[in-house]
Amino acid sequence: MSATNQSLVRLGVNIDHVATVRQARGTSYPSPLEAAILCEEAGADGITVHLREDRRHIQDDDVYALRERLRIPLNLEMACAPEILAIALDIKPDEVCLVPERREELTTEGGLDVKGRREAVFETVHALKSAGIIVSLFIEADPDQIKLSAESGAPYIELHTGHFCDLRGAAAQEELARLTRGAELAHELGLKVNAGHGINLDNIGSILSIPHLDTLNIGHSIVARAVMVGLSAAVAEMRVAIQAGPRTG
Ligand code: PXP
Repeated sequence: MSATNQSLVRLGVNIDHVATVRQARGTSYPSPLEAAILCEEAGADGITVHLREDRRHIQDDDVYALRERLRIPLNLEMACAPEILAIALDIKPDEVCLVPERREELTTEGGLDVKGRREAVFETVHALKSAGIIVSLFIEADPDQIKLSAESGAPYIELHTGHFCDLRGAAAQEELARLTRGAELAHELGLKVNAGHGINLDNIGSILSIPHLDTLNIGHSIVARAVMVGLSAAVAEMRVAIQAGPRTG
């Protein structure tokens, strides 16, 4: 894919860690809603939040407030859990990304096991689609998981880029090749391809070499960078990096 095509890649900003700072002190600030509006004004194409079962950062009220005020699409990350599904069906975000969730993890650590949790995943996809919500499955670039994702009826997958972002040298190149093959297979099967996890200003050039990308969902590095330069500048910098297109090495 050419750099021109890749400049169309959309930026979804995950603002979970704005809520992490708030929850650390039990204050009412910083406000994820205010942060989302700043991201919107700075050129974000969408806002992502993860309503975790343990409510460690984003709270139910945050999602309702975002739903009411945002003009750009709201993407809700959630586990295949009946309690969260009921909330999602009430809020009706534009998009839902189904993710695996373990209470003790630091962040979403692996992809969703569509194969191992086939029934729960397929049922959740069906319920969300029936409510008119666009569904994405956050998975590893594994051919079986990709094929089953297509079978589930979800129109999107989000490829887990976290391993690539943690690796260096030949191992990183191997993982990037796996992500590339995964994106190609997904595209052949008619799936749209998002990607996310661990993306920052240093590795985004390599990530942009993955073909058929629709949206990159980026959270931690943007919020971390915002501490230094402000949220609007951090979002704008990421937009510029996307515009610059693929870089290798
Ligand atoms: N995509 C998914 C499905 C995630 O679970 C996360 C982390 O919440 C992200 C993207 C963003 O990852 P990061 O915060 O490392 O940019």
